[in-house]
Amino acid sequence: MIQRTIPSTGEQLPAVGLGSYQTFDTDDVAAVQPVMDRFLALGGRVIDSSPMYGKAEGAIGRMLAGAKTPAFLATKVWTRGKAEGVAQMERSFQRMGTKQMDLMQIHNLVDWKTQLATLRAWKSEGRIRYVGITHYGHSAFDEMEQIIAKEKIDFVQLPYNVLDRAAEARLLPAAQKHGVAVIVMEPFASGALFGKVKGKPLPKVAAELGCTSWAQLALKFLLGHPAVTCPIPATSKVKHVEDNLGAMRGALPDDRQRKAILAAL
Ligand SMILES: NC(=O)c1ccc[n+]([C@@H]2O[C@H](COP(=O)([O-])OP(=O)(O)OC[C@H]3O[C@@H](n4cnc5c(N)ncnc54)[C@H](OP(=O)(O)O)[C@@H]3O)[C@@H](O)[C@H]2O)c1
Repeated sequence: MIQRTIPSTGEQLPAVGLGSYQTFDTDDVAAVQPVMDRFLALGGRVIDSSPMYGKAEGAIGRMLAGAKTPAFLATKVWTRGKAEGVAQMERSFQRMGTKQMDLMQIHNLVDWKTQLATLRAWKSEGRIRYVGITHYGHSAFDEMEQIIAKEKIDFVQLPYNVLDRAAEARLLPAAQKHGVAVIVMEPFASGALFGKVKGKPLPKVAAELGCTSWAQLALKFLLGHPAVTCPIPATSKVKHVEDNLGAMRGALPDDRQRKAILAAL
């Protein structure tokens, strides 16, 4: 199984995680429980959420209630003001059913200076293990790069996929240089990838890498970048979580193979 290292501590993580935007925003937890069970059974650990994702944090907490395998829980603070941030994070702990959050991220950099001060205090108290920032927009990349360079953070979460490679220019190299772990949001361009490759046969490079689907090729393309720690595809389907975690097996692409994946698109 392909594992990646968190630079700030050396802790190892399974290389493919699970997003929760839309897919887990449901009261019908029984409908998505098999996705979570299969994810954990196949060796997945990193689960990403946010108070922005409606009922997702609560659904994750309920799905993990009887789990035997420990997950690596990541969520976000997404509000302005110290007191509001504290209250929102307390709710996230309660909803996700944990006393210690593995990773707390500042969602879309909202009021990041205020929230970062709380996150640092909570990290020193042991309430959270890692501190991170996220943003989905290219317009925020400069600011994220500055934060990575100046503030001591553990994780950055950014958009990166075969259709959107803007992060390759500066943000990924900055994360690598400053020893910041990278969680990749939107690894399938929020599903747009599948429209693009519909009906296209897999290129030869797929067999070299042990990939049986475009989803696996897309994830391996990301894991072939040395700065990438963990892409977090979201899915509501067991067959898709099985497919996605298949990318944690076999070889990773070198530069030639990454170019071949892009050329095939
Ligand atoms: N600002 C932020 O912090 C931010 C912003 C965006 C995203 N995120 C995080 O990143 C996560 C991932 O991004 P995303 O959810 O936008 O998009 P994504 O993971 O790129 O794509 C999800 C879509 O791909 C489909 N899919 C998944 N696996 C598949 C497979 N093997 N074959 C075919 N289709 C497949 C899913 O549909 P099915 O349900 O049918 O499988 C879903 O429609 C989010 O869930 C969230 O946790 C964070």
